[in-house]
Amino acid sequence: MSMNYEELRSLCLHCQKCKLAETRTNVVFGVGDPNAKVMFIGEGPGENEDLQGEPFVGRGGQLLDKFLAAVDLDRKKNIYIGNMVKCRPPKNRDPEPGEVAECIGYLNKQIELIQPKIIVCLGRIASCYMINPTFKVTKEHGQWTQKNGIWMMGTFHPAALLRNPNNKPLCFEDMLSLRDKIMEVCPETYAGIELLGLPQMP
Ligand code: URA
Repeated sequence: MSMNYEELRSLCLHCQKCKLAETRTNVVFGVGDPNAKVMFIGEGPGENEDLQGEPFVGRGGQLLDKFLAAVDLDRKKNIYIGNMVKCRPPKNRDPEPGEVAECIGYLNKQIELIQPKIIVCLGRIASCYMINPTFKVTKEHGQWTQKNGIWMMGTFHPAALLRNPNNKPLCFEDMLSLRDKIMEVCPETYAGIELLGLPQMP
């Protein structure tokens, strides 16, 4: 049976497939325009995301929003942000392989429905899943590969940038490369958006 975006969202919001359902406050399904051509994928919700039901809303999320704004992207307007796992593991432990296995179908279905032209993976875990199981962020960030007709790139996770701000210029370069790729494959992303003349590094 084919499912639309709202049906998938509603199914996910009521999910009881793994034990994270018992400890979560909110399911963090995703945020943004489900018709966006550019999608960002993170690992899974932390405490703030669990409380608010939205991805990347803590300090890392605020930094992410600044990097997005520097290249005229806005989670409320022209992109979509999702996570591999939709519920917060207690005490921020890593999700167990079984929990990822139960959950990943939601992300796969989101990608199928949204049909992004570009996917940016935030951090190692998402990059390893989407791009290559041996992905090394420090070596391979910013490199573009095409998979199943979708352009993909991995970059630094915002939480990693908070721990190591020295990598911010590298992430900023990746965002500039993303802007070029958007101009090349889905310039409609910027339709109706007033473009910044000179992007500033956050
Ligand atoms: N880290 C992630 O990978 N995703 C979030 O939504 C928040 C923090």
